[in-house]
Amino acid sequence: KTGGLADVTGALPAALTPMGIEMRPLLPAYPAVVAALANIGVDIRAAPGTDAASAAGRVVAELADLPGGPGRILLLKYLNRPLYLLDSPSLFDREGNPYSGPDGADWPDNGLRFGAFAWAAAALASGADANWQPEVVHAHDWQAGLVPAYLRLSAGPKATNRHPSVKTVMTVHNLAFQGQFSPALAAPLGLPATAFTVDGLEYYGSLGFLKAGLFFADALTTVSPTYALEIQTPEHGMGLDGLLRARAADLEGIVNGIDETIWNPATDPHLAAGYDASTMERKAVNKRALQERLGLAPDRHALLACVVSRLTHQKGMDLLLEAASELLAGGGQLAVLGSGELALEAAFARLAVAHPGRIACVLGYDEPLSHLFQGGADAILVPSRFEPCGLTQLYGLRYGTLPIVARTGGLADTVIDANHAALAMGVATGFQVAPVTVQALRFALARACALFADPTTWRGMQQAAMRQPVGWQVSAASYAALYRRLVETAGPAGGREKT
Ligand code: ADP
Ligand code: GLC
Repeated sequence: KTGGLADVTGALPAALTPMGIEMRPLLPAYPAVVAALANIGVDIRAAPGTDAASAAGRVVAELADLPGGPGRILLLKYLNRPLYLLDSPSLFDREGNPYSGPDGADWPDNGLRFGAFAWAAAALASGADANWQPEVVHAHDWQAGLVPAYLRLSAGPKATNRHPSVKTVMTVHNLAFQGQFSPALAAPLGLPATAFTVDGLEYYGSLGFLKAGLFFADALTTVSPTYALEIQTPEHGMGLDGLLRARAADLEGIVNGIDETIWNPATDPHLAAGYDASTMERKAVNKRALQERLGLAPDRHALLACVVSRLTHQKGMDLLLEAASELLAGGGQLAVLGSGELALEAAFARLAVAHPGRIACVLGYDEPLSHLFQGGADAILVPSRFEPCGLTQLYGLRYGTLPIVARTGGLADTVIDANHAALAMGVATGFQVAPVTVQALRFALARACALFADPTTWRGMQQAAMRQPVGWQVSAASYAALYRRLVETAGPAGGREKT
C-alpha cells in the first residue's frame, strides 16, 4: 500500500460478492505480499510437496515468455477470497515500495515491470487459467493501463483460449500519474509498432500506459463525479482532457467507499476507547491519548486538527504550512502524520519545533497511528489542489472528525460545508475551502475554530457526519451495474477506433 488505491482495490472485491459478482484481484508478488502470506503460513516459493507449498494454492499458468523474465501466476485464498499473484522475482522481488527502491528513486525498468503485469492480466483474460476466465477485466491506473491495449490489439500473450468478447474497464485514480515510457519499450512488450499513433499507444512521443488504457478500454471510470468532470478540462486534464472529452459518454465518476470493517470507531483496535454516535464523550479519551502520544498540551478545549497524508504539492501541504498560524491564533492544535517531499517533511518538522505543545509532526507511514489520529482529532485537513476522491475525509466523517477540505474532486462530493443554510438544516458535515489558497484556508480554519467554541453546533455536525453513508454499498452497486451493462452489450469488445 502506498495510498488510497490499495484501500479501494482491497475493499471493492468483498463489496461485490453480495451482488453476485466474483472479482479476482491480480497483484504482483511484492516482498510485502509474500511476507503477509508467510505470516499466515503460506510460502509461495516453498518446495512442492511441503505443507507450506500446498497452502500456497496452485500455479495456474507458467509464463515462459513474460516480458522481462519468466513468471508464473498462482491462485490462492487470502482472507477467504481468491487472489491471483504474478510471481516474477526478477521484476518484483525488490526492496522499497512498489515503484521505487530504498533510495526513493523510481526503478528504471518500471515500464517493463508493469507492462509485464498487464501482459499477465491479459493472459488470464485469454484463458491462461484453464478453470476460470473473467468476462470483464477492471484495470486500475497506469500500472494496468496496457491490459485493454493487449486485448483490443490481440497482442502480447498468446491467446490460448481468448474470450471472444471480454470487456475492459479502465479506472483513473489519479491522472497525475500516467506511466510514460520510451517508445522503444513497445517491441519487448510485444506491442505492434503500427499501434504507436495518437489513436493508440502514443502520448506526446512516449508510450503512454494510462493513455492506452483510456483509448482502448470499453468503459472508463474515475473515483468521483466531480473529478470525472474536472479531468475533461485543460486545467485538470493533464494533457488527456481531449481524449476524455471525446470519450465522455463512456466515462463515469463513482465515488469510493471505505471498508467499514477496518474503519469503525466502535471496534477499532487502535483506539484508546471505542465510541459511536451515541457515546461521543468517549472520543475525548482518544483525544487525550493522541495529545499525550504526540507531546501536545492536554487541552480539551483546543481544536485539534490533524493531517494524515502524503506530504506533497498535490495535497496542498505548502498552503497548510502558511495557514497553520490561523489555527494557533484560534487556540487550536495541529498534528501531522505523513511522508513525502523532503522539503515539506523538513518544513513541518521545523514548524513543530517552533511550536512545542501546539504542533506535532510524525514523519513516516504508520497505519495503526493513522487510526488514532482519526479517533483522537476533532478535525482532519485535506487542502488538496486536486483530489480524485480522497479517503481520509471519509474516515473522518465516519469517526466524527470533521473534514476541512478543498472544494475539488471527491472532496467536493463528500463533504457538506457548514454554511448558514446547511447548518440551519442540520446537514453540514465539515468545511470547504474555495478557491484553494492560503487566504481561503485561513478563513476555513477560523470558521472551524469559531464553531468548535460552540459545542452544541459542533456535536450536531459530528452526528450528521457519522450518519452520512460512506461504505461501499452504493458505489459497489454502480460498478456491478456497469459490468452487467458491458457483458450484456452484444458483440466484440469496443473501445474507440478513432478519437
Ligand atoms: P492518496 O491515495 O492520494 O494518497 P487517499 O486519501 O485516497 O490519498 O488515501 C490515502 C491513504 O493512505 C489513506 O488510507 C490514509 O489513511 C493513508 N495514509 C496516508 N499517509 C499515511 C501515513 N503517513 N501513515 C499512515 N497512513 C497514511
Ligand atoms: C488516488 C487519489 C485519491 C483516491 C485514491 C483511491 O491515490 O489521489 O484521491 O482516493 O486514488 O481512488
